[in-house]
Amino acid sequence: MISDAALLELARRYGTPLFVYDADHAVAQYRALFERIPWPGLEIHYALKANYNPHLALALRDAGAGIDAVSPAEVQYALRLGFPKEKIIYTANNMTDAEFERVCATGVLMNIGSLSRLRKIARDHKGMRVCLRFNPDVCDGDSIHTMTAGALTKFGILLDDVKTVLEIVREGNLHVVGLHEHTGSGLQHAESVYAAMDKLMSIAAPENFPELEMLDFGGGFKVPYRSDEKEIDYFSMGRTIAQKFRDFCDARGKNLKMLFEPGKFLTARAGHLVVEVNTVKRNRDRLIAGCNSGFPQLIRPLLYGAYHRIDNLSNPGGAPFLYDVCGNICETGDRFAEQRELPEIREYDLLAIRNAGAYCYSMGGVYNLRPMPTEVTVSEGKVVGVRKRLSDDALADQIFKECDIVL
Ligand code: LLP
Repeated sequence: MISDAALLELARRYGTPLFVYDADHAVAQYRALFERIPWPGLEIHYALKANYNPHLALALRDAGAGIDAVSPAEVQYALRLGFPKEKIIYTANNMTDAEFERVCATGVLMNIGSLSRLRKIARDHKGMRVCLRFNPDVCDGDSIHTMTAGALTKFGILLDDVKTVLEIVREGNLHVVGLHEHTGSGLQHAESVYAAMDKLMSIAAPENFPELEMLDFGGGFKVPYRSDEKEIDYFSMGRTIAQKFRDFCDARGKNLKMLFEPGKFLTARAGHLVVEVNTVKRNRDRLIAGCNSGFPQLIRPLLYGAYHRIDNLSNPGGAPFLYDVCGNICETGDRFAEQRELPEIREYDLLAIRNAGAYCYSMGGVYNLRPMPTEVTVSEGKVVGVRKRLSDDALADQIFKECDIVL
């Protein structure tokens, strides 16, 4: 992992707020999955939505990863980054007809999650190859907002609807080459992975889907965010996953490919957001450390109540105090941490917000017209890519240009 000394040096060189990504860590996580899940036909597709930084994505491409794309722009972007189209799956979600046609034209495999879209394909695109997304009816995830299966979700086709699916497939002479499920993000229990696999495999018999080439069990592998959180025993989980799949393929009489599409597992811990504290003040019994970033740049604490570890890089040995670590946005909820014990924070200290490599920059925006931070990607101790922050002026310019405003 990139050292705190290196983070301080990069912050001096590029300024703050600054996202720093360790490409080697992401690649190591990618490779770790192959060691942990002993299935010869394993393929890992990176969930690009977690972090679309090109330098990070290229490192994963070079390691062999494919892409889980969730919008036509993600498909285009992945193709432009040089991911082969055979290694991209587009998991559509409430797409328009125009979006469907645009992605269709690229030849990328589409993962269809509604009967209505499947019917349209059977009507207008006879003989098409498709993957089908089912709702495995297993609820898990690190927040109610990140559970993507069960009774409350908008995702997937119900397992109960298999009969209808088969009728539509027959009518449209569709080639179902893959089945997919995604239970949630930050899965808390290994049993949820097994249960969801069982559900998907239960409908995957050759009588139903004779042309299957792969089953895709989604993403969701959790990594620790808190210092006292234990890493899941992925070796044990991986063996169970492989054994289940072995039994399934043996019964089927053919070895299929097994796909997972992780985001957090690959990039969460690879990222750090380095911010500078510019104001330390007191509100009666609360100490406020105010810094030069804010929730539009890392929204998980505000949106999900997510915990991100914070370290005081400049004063690691300072005496501990309780702080509200706040941003520079005009909203009370603009806090990275509330009543967090940290070594004494002084003005101009640099803090590192950890696990900032997944769903931070990618969920970001320029609310209050604060430009998104610079992103720096590091490999083998060297900077391999920089995405520069817009200056305040450049951000204003961009809006003027987009709106054709000349005053
Ligand atoms: N596949 C599908 C179809 C997905 O919807 C997702 C995540 C993934 C894979 C990757 O899940 P992961 O391995 O990263 O857990 N913004 C939330 C997470 C939302 C995830 C949405 N879908 C967060 O910050 O926790």
